Amino acid sequence: MTTTSKKNKAIQKEAEVNVKTKYTTPSFYSKQRIWSRFVVVAGVIVYIWYTSKDGKETSLGRQKEILQQRGQAFQCDSDYLEEINSFPSCIPKKCGRYISDKIVTINDVDILLKIAKRGFALGGSDGGASILDLHSGALSLGEKFINVYSLDKAKDVFNAADLVAYKIVKAKIQHAIAETFQIGIDSLHLTHPTFFSRLNSLDARTIHDEYWHVHVDKEVYESFHYTSLLYLSDFGKDFQGGRLIFLDSPKNNITLEPRKGRVAMFSSGRENPHFVERVTSGVMRINIVYYTFRFCGR
Ligand SMILES: *[C@@H]1O[C@H](CO)[C@@H](O)[C@H](O)[C@H]1NC(C)=O
Repeated sequence: MTTTSKKNKAIQKEAEVNVKTKYTTPSFYSKQRIWSRFVVVAGVIVYIWYTSKDGKETSLGRQKEILQQRGQAFQCDSDYLEEINSFPSCIPKKCGRYISDKIVTINDVDILLKIAKRGFALGGSDGGASILDLHSGALSLGEKFINVYSLDKAKDVFNAADLVAYKIVKAKIQHAIAETFQIGIDSLHLTHPTFFSRLNSLDARTIHDEYWHVHVDKEVYESFHYTSLLYLSDFGKDFQGGRLIFLDSPKNNITLEPRKGRVAMFSSGRENPHFVERVTSGVMRINIVYYTFRFCGR
């Protein structure tokens, strides 16, 4: 920059200052203007802060809502597609996550709750998560698992009528999954494990107690294609925490508040990484069932 141009700039600045002082508005208006500018600037700051936050949460369902069905369909993960592509009758290949409060009745839930409470009364983990699998008989006890059917008391706990009711509940959910994901009911099979889970705020004693890690169901058990959770207790009433969180994108988590009788159904592949938030107080009970395309196309 030459000295003359510097000089010119200085002169220009001086002129601007003169213009400003010359046309200064009366103090009433200037106060108003300062105030309105402040409002605009504050608005911009709030907007930037909000949009640049680490991310946000989108609710898939709150405890207070009663929903016929709500959810989203989306592309399956490529691993999942590759596998089911080799079984042509498994199409259409719909992935996604849905919830419904209308699949099972409160009467159904009360029967399952009775089975769960009686079963867990015979055992229970020393840490925060206990399971009871009526198929294999596995029941958490301390830091281990026992076979609930080896206990004498088990005979009094599980009566035939309750077990039939449990079977019917599983069939209802199976039909809902088949309908939601457009799969022939004959192609969709229950797979193991299916279990009751009881979660509380105790510190973990073993790895089995750590239910709050992000995971993909299909990476835990390869045979899984769909996962269902039936909530037997209410978020905010029976317990705090315990929401189901899907990691949708780095900027957005999809949250689900448990509601007694609510069913969550989702494809088990990498399109649905999720975790359960730690329960901070109270006791949460759920029934978890996995489904598979077993014989389709083979
Ligand atoms: C979603 O949850 C995960 C696991 O807790 C967390 O690390 C991440 O920050 C959350 N993302 C958003 C956008 O809140």
